[in-house]
Amino acid sequence: MNHSHPSRELAQRLDTTDELAQFRARFFVPEGQIYLDGNSLGLLSRDAERTLLAVLDRWRATGIGGWLGGDSPWFTMAESLSARVAKLVGAEADEVAIANSMTINLHQLLCTLYQPKAGRTKVLIDAHSFPTDRYALRSHLQLRGLDPNEEIVIAPAGASRFLDEDELVDALANPELQMALFPSIVYTTGQLLDLERLCRVARENGVIVGLDMSHSVGVMPHALDDWGADFAGWGHYKWLNSGPGSVAGLYLNRRHFDDEGMVHAGLAGWWSVHKESMFEMSDEFFPGLGASALQIGTPAVLSMAPIDGALRPIEEAGLERIRAKSLAMTEFLMQIADAELAPLGFQIGTPRDAKRRGGHVSLQHENAQPMSLALRARGVVPDFRKPDVIRLAPSPLYNTFSECWDALQALKEIAVTRAYEEFAATPSLVT
Ligand SMILES: Cc1ncc(COP(=O)(O)O)c(C=O)c1O
Repeated sequence: MNHSHPSRELAQRLDTTDELAQFRARFFVPEGQIYLDGNSLGLLSRDAERTLLAVLDRWRATGIGGWLGGDSPWFTMAESLSARVAKLVGAEADEVAIANSMTINLHQLLCTLYQPKAGRTKVLIDAHSFPTDRYALRSHLQLRGLDPNEEIVIAPAGASRFLDEDELVDALANPELQMALFPSIVYTTGQLLDLERLCRVARENGVIVGLDMSHSVGVMPHALDDWGADFAGWGHYKWLNSGPGSVAGLYLNRRHFDDEGMVHAGLAGWWSVHKESMFEMSDEFFPGLGASALQIGTPAVLSMAPIDGALRPIEEAGLERIRAKSLAMTEFLMQIADAELAPLGFQIGTPRDAKRRGGHVSLQHENAQPMSLALRARGVVPDFRKPDVIRLAPSPLYNTFSECWDALQALKEIAVTRAYEEFAATPSLVT
């Protein structure tokens, strides 16, 4: 953390001493852009491009030979990636599966772990949960013949813009809860929850606890085993930079394995069976080992291959250094916002405490949407979330402190000159 007045010179000094500066050259940073959308879609690295092209080469050269041949056979690619991703989330290799999408994994985990019993049927979620989590949960309960309006408990939103953990903890004491699902980082505000505490309290109350870690994997360390979470899910296309729609990840604590290490998937397919018996094509179902049993069908190899390369810069940089730079960048953004943007009606909508914030900074302003469009027109790429939030997500691997400075100078200029007004009527699906 630094306490100097924010300035271009300070930004340049921070860039000069940045231990991760060399990683930027590994990425394709779009020409003329300041890309601050790493929490929506991370940029392509040369490493990820290489591992994707290697699969295409193998397919071109050997056709079906790629399933079992070469350095990285497609048949076991998910398992070899799980071992590496497990380190990023604080789990054993067999507790992680690389499979499906985040939303499908949530369905899979609900099908596998939601076991309502008399008097214990309800599922707790927070008031700021990402829509897909709510939709998946509602549809799952409906499929079980339950009424989502009865069974979903939404924890109070708290008096401030941020979730109040004491209220979440109180909500966990409800004896009718079977399960709770929390975000690691709230996608709008960037609030990082105290996951150790929430998991511990959930377990003390006999509640199965799951985490949506979409906004934290790749940008900070996790300790799923130590926290005692039951399950988690995340995508790899945000901070992990593995490409649009890339195959997702899930975690299943080994307390849900049977005595032989097998897992009975709620949603089963031929990739949920024990790998050794897969080609028996048997009517009998031999459950797969560990979390990998939660795969369902043939993996999307072309969407999984970039993960291999995308992991490399992260592994080389190390999550501790990534987190340290991420916090320094978000701190710097907030300092600039305080000094230069607060007088123009901007408010910081992200927790100030480093222990309570993730990788992005949310700026609130009543004209956030047209301002976000005006920024894009100037080559600065943030995103906008309703009703009034501009999210700025600097990636420790490819962004610089100077870019943070320049991006907020552009925003200041847009606010001062009211350049955003020309975008007020611009229709846009995602901004
Ligand atoms: C917090 C959160 N959860 C879930 C998802 C959805 O995951 P997917 O569309 O990959 O299934 C997203 C996507 O942005 C997200 O931000």
